[in-house]
Amino acid sequence: MNDAILDEGFFTVRWHEGAVELLDQRALPLRETVLRFEHAEDVARAITDMVVRGAPAIGVTAAFGLALGTRELPDERGAFDRGFAALCERFAAARPTAVNLFWAIDRMKARRAAVGDSPVTAVREALLAEARAIHDEDVAACVQMGRLGAELVPDGAAVLTHCNAGALATAGYGTALGVVRGARDAGKKIRVFADETRPFLQGARLTAWELVKARIPVTVITDNMAADLMRRGEITCVVVGADRIARNGDVANKIGTYGVAVLAHVHGLPFYVAAPSSTFDVTIPDGAGIPIEERSPEEVRQIGGVRIVAVDVPVRHPAFDVTPAELVAALITERGVLRPPYEAAIAAMLTRSA
Ligand code: MRU
Repeated sequence: MNDAILDEGFFTVRWHEGAVELLDQRALPLRETVLRFEHAEDVARAITDMVVRGAPAIGVTAAFGLALGTRELPDERGAFDRGFAALCERFAAARPTAVNLFWAIDRMKARRAAVGDSPVTAVREALLAEARAIHDEDVAACVQMGRLGAELVPDGAAVLTHCNAGALATAGYGTALGVVRGARDAGKKIRVFADETRPFLQGARLTAWELVKARIPVTVITDNMAADLMRRGEITCVVVGADRIARNGDVANKIGTYGVAVLAHVHGLPFYVAAPSSTFDVTIPDGAGIPIEERSPEEVRQIGGVRIVAVDVPVRHPAFDVTPAELVAALITERGVLRPPYEAAIAAMLTRSA
């Protein structure tokens, strides 16, 4: 699976011949460039710099990055374990909001603990096997979410999505776009409206590129067009992904998601969130406790490297916002479709297996 190119002709992240390879998402759609990483530090920086992005993809990449990093550590067990702990801290600092990153690091730590006193060469192999498992399980979870979520999307639907929650944001198939693929695979005719998603333009650059590859009809709109299209009756439902979902069902996702949810509510449209169980963080009671990444103001001041705001004008750049649970019609997970009240539904979902 990890060496395989996806059916649609690309991959997001893979382990290939002893290194981590990433499709450079900063260059899409203009250039399809695969970058090869032979050092863990470079993988961690690639996460921060958005070579790879999207909550599940960040987690999978960190797992492979940790497996790679263990090859750079000494064979002496004490030094190896100190180095591994430092690597885990380094990856945890790469981006703050997507909980899948911390979930993947915790899984890698647990695997290290489980192999105990094994020789360091065997520990390295076990950690690579764990990273491969995290990758493969993510694809399987997305396919399952797609199957379950497809039932919520009527034949002929026009689905509005925000940011990119597709194959590019996961190990493959996608969460929100997994639901779209699932509906397509169930024989439904589906069209997608992709918010361009300022400032990083994941919708315009990535969602549109990915859906063209998937041969699913897509139309890009600027973020400020969604309200008008909803009022005109051109949108059937909204499906987005998530970076972290709190215990009460509040959802952190790409900045602008909250606005789309409010608009959907005003227009009586269902607003669905598709996310694997690895995106839930029940240690945080509600959305107020979710750490929100503030990224560089330059990403707002510029588009495609061209300055559009006068030098020194202050700008804000919170990269995520929180949608209150009451605006979410359903949470689509690989373990079932959850309906309000979410606190009990989430707790029950997390105690059962897929
Ligand atoms: O800043 P990004 O591009 O990493 O933000 C990505 C999103 O907000 C996605 O919607 C989210 O991670 C869900 S991905 C399946």
